Amino acid sequence: MSYNLGCYEQELNELAKYHFDTKGKLIRPMIICTMARSFNQQHDNFLHENQRCIATLGEMIHTASLIHDDVVDSSDRRRGKPAAAIKWGPKKAVLAGDYILGISSVMLARIGNCEVISLLSRVIQDLVRGEFMQLSTKESDAEQFQDYLNKTFCKTASLFANTCKAVALLGNIPSNNIKQSADLAYDFGKNFGMAFQLIDDLLDVTATDADLGKPATADLKLGLSTAPVLFASQQFPELQDLILRRFSESGDIERALELIDQSDGKARTYHLAEQYANEACRILSSFSQSLDGSNVFLNLLTHLTQSTLKRRR
Ligand code: FPP
Ligand code: MG
Ligand code: MG
Repeated sequence: MSYNLGCYEQELNELAKYHFDTKGKLIRPMIICTMARSFNQQHDNFLHENQRCIATLGEMIHTASLIHDDVVDSSDRRRGKPAAAIKWGPKKAVLAGDYILGISSVMLARIGNCEVISLLSRVIQDLVRGEFMQLSTKESDAEQFQDYLNKTFCKTASLFANTCKAVALLGNIPSNNIKQSADLAYDFGKNFGMAFQLIDDLLDVTATDADLGKPATADLKLGLSTAPVLFASQQFPELQDLILRRFSESGDIERALELIDQSDGKARTYHLAEQYANEACRILSSFSQSLDGSNVFLNLLTHLTQSTLKRRR
């Protein structure tokens, strides 16, 4: 039974739709649909309705998390326009994120596959865990780096890994091959997602607000230490004090940026992203070849993986 919310419904729908305006990169649906078709091409080449639904759900869960994230981060811009929380205020924005998650849950239940429900629910759990981990800083630099990698998996790679696995399970792979294919899809998504987030963290210290459509150097301003500053701190141990106090004193951010520039932190971040991307491509090479030998979708996944290293936003 559904209740009529009257005039509230219109505002809630408007708010919930606000960031679905194709201004995002849509990398998640692109990867998920291409992964799905790389499996299906051995049989019928079509994207199944349930697989398409996973691509939609991936983007919906991601967008809901961004609406919440802009409240947590007090960020005023998203995808080149005012964040939902700026236009409607944080309370309505948080509720809109919840509403999108509610709609996603109904869509997910309609797929009716318990394992897929569990994979997508894990994505939501990981997003919250990743965001929660960011609120504190570990004491030692070794722990900080491990924490950063765990957080990166939770915040970004989990969504790619679990949705890629979900579309493999929903494809028409022969039953003797399904587990292995689903695990490969998961591993590809995980490595792709790690590379994608490392480049995001690099862009945060190299790109401008205009390039990104959101504020640059946001991580340091929020007290967060990502790969560029963590690598830089191995060369310049004085950064440890700044990392531990989460860049809270005047001049900390400027000093951190200076030391990042003088260090090989950016190059090492890029190199680590490259390693994850190469591993993602290696995993693709062990997928079953397409029947016609063209491997169109596997080649496209390789291309998308390599392009993520070159992206500017
Ligand atoms: C963007 O990171 C944020 C995320 C990838 C995840 C945010 C997750 C939550 C707020 C938990 C709630 C989750 C749900 C599903 C409602 P960022 O701040 O580093 O990047 P940005 O520069 O794009 O803001
Ligand atoms: Mg943010
Ligand atoms: Mg954030």
